[in-house]
Amino acid sequence: MQVIKKIAVLTSGGDAPGMNSAIRAVVFSAAQFDMEVVGVLRGYDGLIDWETISLTLEDVRNINNQGGTMLFTSRSERFLQPEYRSQAADNLRKHHVDAVVAIGGDGTLRGAVQFQREGINIVCIPGTIDRDVACTEYTLGFDTAANTATEAIDRIRDSSVSHGRCSVVEVMGRKRGYIALWAGMATSADAIILPEKWDGDFDKITDAVKKHHTDDRNSYLIVVAEGVIDAPELAGMIQEKTGVESRVSVLGYIQRGGQPTAKDRMYGSLMGAYAIEILRQGRENRIVAIKNDILEDYDIAEAVDMNNNALDSFQYELSLRLSE
Ligand code: F6P
Repeated sequence: MQVIKKIAVLTSGGDAPGMNSAIRAVVFSAAQFDMEVVGVLRGYDGLIDWETISLTLEDVRNINNQGGTMLFTSRSERFLQPEYRSQAADNLRKHHVDAVVAIGGDGTLRGAVQFQREGINIVCIPGTIDRDVACTEYTLGFDTAANTATEAIDRIRDSSVSHGRCSVVEVMGRKRGYIALWAGMATSADAIILPEKWDGDFDKITDAVKKHHTDDRNSYLIVVAEGVIDAPELAGMIQEKTGVESRVSVLGYIQRGGQPTAKDRMYGSLMGAYAIEILRQGRENRIVAIKNDILEDYDIAEAVDMNNNALDSFQYELSLRLSE
């Protein structure tokens, strides 16, 4: 079994609240086992260019409450090419790094699967607001993003009710509807449009908006996940077909920033410590996951092929019942 003496930690893909807690726990846990930690800046790009900082306990002591990632991030185009992955692996060997901890979403995991073929031991921690990594029930940042979206939508609703308008609010999620489902249910949205479930039935929406107006519930709130329908187009169509004044708000990057919730700080800490435990046990190429609130791990190549991330059907059915 290889004794790990030096590790590199990086964050990659979209930043997510809770990443800093994971970095902190990696550094603290590594110190307990006398492992040295270097922080790689700007994700996989930093591995290619060897842009690094040393990380001590003092550097990370008070970062739990900070949004974003102290190591910066990127969506590295170069890392998709074998010659750059090979350069990154050479850099790690040259600097005597025994293993990498990569914190990020689906793209980070896919990059890691390619990278292990260079003979590098890489352990991943799922961090993305989208909650779209199939092997785990939780990804760092989701709770903060869902809460931020909820707070923003509550405010939009106040204005919408005051004016008797229809509000269309677009939230993030890439190809997944988790943020839309949670923020939509939490704000009692009248309709929630999800990539997994959208059937293209615009008439159903315009009929419901009209019905609300005749019922005297004079505002209507639609939460739509990005990429399903063009939100401004939807608002325009509703106004044209129903005569109800309609407005659109695209929440955008507000959902990614801000102080992490207690849940993201806690899970970041747990996942960071667990990643070091995996390395300490001499295991290789794993991803940390959470199931029924218990930490576990999977082989990264197997995890990337998993396809069991369907939207919870009970949650979805309930969202329909609660919006009638
Ligand atoms: O990090 C996840 C995410 O915010 C997705 O919800 C969104 O589709 C995407 O990143 C936006 O990416 P970028 O920061 O590259 O614009």
